[in-house]
Amino acid sequence: MGNIVFVAKEITADETRVAASPETVKKMKALGLDVIVEAGAGKFSRIPDSEYEAVGARIGSLGAAAGADVVLKVRRPGEAEIVAYRSGAIVIAIMDPYGHDEAISGLAKAGLSTFAMELMPRITRAQSMDVLSSQANLAGYQAVIEAAAVYDRALPMMMTAAGTVPAAKVFVMGAGVAGLQAIATARRLGAAVSATDVRPAAKEQVASLGAKFIAVEDEEFKAAETAGGYAREMSAAYQAKQAALVAEHIAKQDIVITTALIPGRPAPRLVSRAMLATMKPGAVAVDLAVERGGNIEGVKPGKIADVDGVRVIGFANMAGRIAASASALYAKNLVTFLETMIDKETRAIVLNLDDELIKATMLTHAGAVVHPAFGGQTKGEK
Ligand code: NAI
Repeated sequence: MGNIVFVAKEITADETRVAASPETVKKMKALGLDVIVEAGAGKFSRIPDSEYEAVGARIGSLGAAAGADVVLKVRRPGEAEIVAYRSGAIVIAIMDPYGHDEAISGLAKAGLSTFAMELMPRITRAQSMDVLSSQANLAGYQAVIEAAAVYDRALPMMMTAAGTVPAAKVFVMGAGVAGLQAIATARRLGAAVSATDVRPAAKEQVASLGAKFIAVEDEEFKAAETAGGYAREMSAAYQAKQAALVAEHIAKQDIVITTALIPGRPAPRLVSRAMLATMKPGAVAVDLAVERGGNIEGVKPGKIADVDGVRVIGFANMAGRIAASASALYAKNLVTFLETMIDKETRAIVLNLDDELIKATMLTHAGAVVHPAFGGQTKGEK
């Protein structure tokens, strides 16, 4: 019997995704792993237990996790789950470690080797394991769908015998993975799209999708991209110039979708109440940064809030609203990472602590917090 992988059912109320699909179970079986799926784990992703069984998984309860060498999850496990795992087990999930030191040290104390998928380096080798991209891409798509559903007008221009409906004006703020997909989706629906970002590299990408690029392109903008491809927090002076430009542009928009994030920092505040108040009657906004504090003033997590006449959509876990697709991609990211831990010949699980993917994502190991960003000591620092 090979190593046992336990696919947990998520217990967080709004988590609809699951960490394995029939496709990835098949892959794990081919890698010589024995897979147990917790009963009902795939329910909200429309994967019945029988579909997992059909590809060779066993269905079990949380109690079965006690014998597992690897636990696959979407969210960081809480205390009630951790007690069910055996010390020494590997747990792979989206760990949301920033600002949660106590929870992370709890994982260490339980003797778990935990891996945060969102810390995966953005290098070519790890592209297929990049959960931030796979989930942000779907979130960007879904943001447009949610906005279109709330908006009381059509998005495309329609010329009919009964008259002409103008194209909706959609403004996307933050043109990373989610923003670019939002631009593409809004364009497909026929909207007139513009977008902004603080990274100069975004300019060409926005233009190549057929959207208009709007930004303060000064010296600071030219230096805003980090070596890792992320945005920096901008100076107060830049933010003021940006706000003036946005204020002028936003007054002419029907739909605003914000996606701006800075790694490890609260989301930048980009849209004020005063700006919302200038938008047209019936305007809609979607704030994809809501879980990190929000880009829009007045956004309410999990709700559609009326803020100065604009309906501001603040749904958390946007990818979870398109759970079947999100789970399929997330599960694939996980199994690709897990595969790197399996020795091709012996089929044993081997944690190579010098591997750059392991180093970047491992939070806790052998009873300690090991990630340098969360208080862990790197080798030679002791
Ligand atoms: P993210 O989710 O951290 O941020 C979203 C966007 O918000 C970014 O484009 C960022 O520049 C922008 N932003 C931050 N502050 C802003 C402000 N004040 N105003 C306007 N926009 C602001 O970023 P994400 O989506 O994870 O992508 C970051 C970069 O990494 C992109 O260039 C993306 O193409 C690149 N990337 C590279 C990958 C690879 O090489 N394997 C994989 C995925 C993404």
